[in-house]
Amino acid sequence: MEKMQCLAAFLLATSAAFTRASPVNVPECTLEPLTKDHGVKVFYTTSRVANGCTSQGPTDPSLEVHLLFLRFSSPSELFSLQINVSASAEKANRRSMFVVSSNAYVHLTVNTEGCHLTFITTTRCMVQGANIETQQTNLSSSSEELLQQTKKDHGGISSFAELENPRQIHFHLDGEPSSNQDCVPEKNFNADPYLEFEVASDNVKGCPSSSGNPQKEAHIVWLQQDPQGSSPQSVDLNIEQNCDEGEPENQLPTLLVLKSHTGVTWNIGQMFDSLKFLVSGKYTMKKFGAVQMPGVDLPDSKEGLLAESRSKEFAFVASYTEITSAKSITLKLERVCGRQATPVTEKPQMEGVSLESFMQGLITTWKPWRCLDSGIEITLAKDYLRQALFENVTKVTDVTLQDRSCKATDNNTHFILRSKLRECSTYLERDVVVKNQLVFSLHLLPGEIMVPFECDLPEKVFLQLYPSPDFGSEPTTVVEVNKATYVQVQFRTTDLRAQLQIEDCSLQTADKTSSQLLIGGGKPLSYSATFLDSPSSTISRFSFVYKSGEEQWAASPATLLCKLHLHSQLHGDHYNETSLEMTFKTSSTPSHSLGIGTVLGITFGAFLIGVLLTAALWYIYSHTHIPGPMAKMQPVAENPPASESSSTNHSIGSTQSTPCSTSSMA
Ligand SMILES: *[C@@H]1O[C@H](CO)[C@@H](O)[C@H](O)[C@H]1NC(C)=O
Repeated sequence: MEKMQCLAAFLLATSAAFTRASPVNVPECTLEPLTKDHGVKVFYTTSRVANGCTSQGPTDPSLEVHLLFLRFSSPSELFSLQINVSASAEKANRRSMFVVSSNAYVHLTVNTEGCHLTFITTTRCMVQGANIETQQTNLSSSSEELLQQTKKDHGGISSFAELENPRQIHFHLDGEPSSNQDCVPEKNFNADPYLEFEVASDNVKGCPSSSGNPQKEAHIVWLQQDPQGSSPQSVDLNIEQNCDEGEPENQLPTLLVLKSHTGVTWNIGQMFDSLKFLVSGKYTMKKFGAVQMPGVDLPDSKEGLLAESRSKEFAFVASYTEITSAKSITLKLERVCGRQATPVTEKPQMEGVSLESFMQGLITTWKPWRCLDSGIEITLAKDYLRQALFENVTKVTDVTLQDRSCKATDNNTHFILRSKLRECSTYLERDVVVKNQLVFSLHLLPGEIMVPFECDLPEKVFLQLYPSPDFGSEPTTVVEVNKATYVQVQFRTTDLRAQLQIEDCSLQTADKTSSQLLIGGGKPLSYSATFLDSPSSTISRFSFVYKSGEEQWAASPATLLCKLHLHSQLHGDHYNETSLEMTFKTSSTPSHSLGIGTVLGITFGAFLIGVLLTAALWYIYSHTHIPGPMAKMQPVAENPPASESSSTNHSIGSTQSTPCSTSSMA
């Protein structure tokens, strides 16, 4: 009851405003195309495509092939758009292929609901999204040629649609295949219900120069679609006012003129208080629920509609838009709110996407980087950058990594950047994923554009020796005799489920004439080889103790050779061999297992010293006549070269009599 009273009051107020209206002395409105600076944008969704058809599809009945040709009225610009593809559960197993071509550079983001799709696109079109396979190729830039080519390639086609200025596309794969034998394009084709897309009208006009400081404004929308038999048509209409800051302060009195054939019902969404409207057909307003109200008769011409607006004292037409077909229409009005707009240099914007995110998409699709053990290499063709991105907009002046001191060189045709793996703020995740970002500086534009990237180091096997069981110190190539040596074999891969197993490991002499198995058939065999706990499935660890005397190659370098069994998603099951050159080192602390040669050497040395000492003593004794020679000789004998603690008590007498007794020292 209250609602109806409210509605009546509203209608009264509206009509009262209009009955008071009389033509006033304001300049005539001459329509001219609006630019984006005028702050009015008109978006609409429709299933009417410029050209389109359906047919029974390719010869392979499990395959659907849909051809989309995206035509933009300003092909030198960059576009970014989204395509949402949905399929019912029973269709999810069918293979669906989209062939997409465009007359402009396009970055396409695909959202799918679980269906797996293949996208074949031109090189001008970059596709990103989960669950999709992409393939870039040269496709004809004529939609007619492309249609014939696609039919030939797949023995038929499921659907074809040429879309003008799309911003977002919704595609439903649920429908039954068409019964048409052949896909023969029709102009203004109705692709309902499988295809709907959002368009920014490129046909918005207005008369901005007819009024210096308008106190009120009119927006006129003429929906020109024909009645579809007797079926009711409805259109959703929304107005959005956007402020770059805060709320619109003074809401301009605004008149909305909505013209259509009389069978259309306009569903008008949320709106602001100062809005009045003239509607043909019928309309509902969200604020009054589902109550349908009758509209008024409006003229069937542009001049008539302008005159109608003028007659209601809204001579300033801020926008006039003709739309051939729509399911919903949105007017977006940019308002200056609260403060005076100050001119700012802004990065060029594309429809709904910043230059930054466009570049991120583009560069991420190109992948101009290579990550190797030797470092990161980035090569960017300047031609490619210019054509694809900045033609007529700006150009790249500098490219660096996150660390701005790591700068690309410019050889006239390419930007080339090389850096070592652990420099230039490069982050290495799990020792295999290399992360950094490219920083682009642009001519005449403030700020920088960052494009984070990561790339994987190639799969590789590492064999390393460590002196301690914590595997924490620097790897070594020296094996200490009689001490445990710790061996780690690591399979570097991004695949978290990859596996490594040691099959065999053996020690070989450098000339490969002699070898000894440490591990055979995955089991420890000799040199006290023992498997150790490993931190992951891609690392295997064991230790062994090399004892001298078992083999006689202690002096020469040797090789540790391991045969491995690897498994990764990328390469499946495979075998690999890895080896490491190493040398042996005898422990510096003495032990009871010194080689027999060493023992003999020491013995002979001691014997020789004994003989020489004896000779020297006899010489001294025979040339001096000091009595009690024993007392004099004692200090000399205290310092024999084989300085064992037991030798200090040896008397010269015993040395003289039994020189070979020193052998007990060994
Ligand atoms: C610049 O470097 C790229 C990549 O290494 C190379 O292909 C190209 O030929 C070079 N251009 C000139 C002019 O040397």
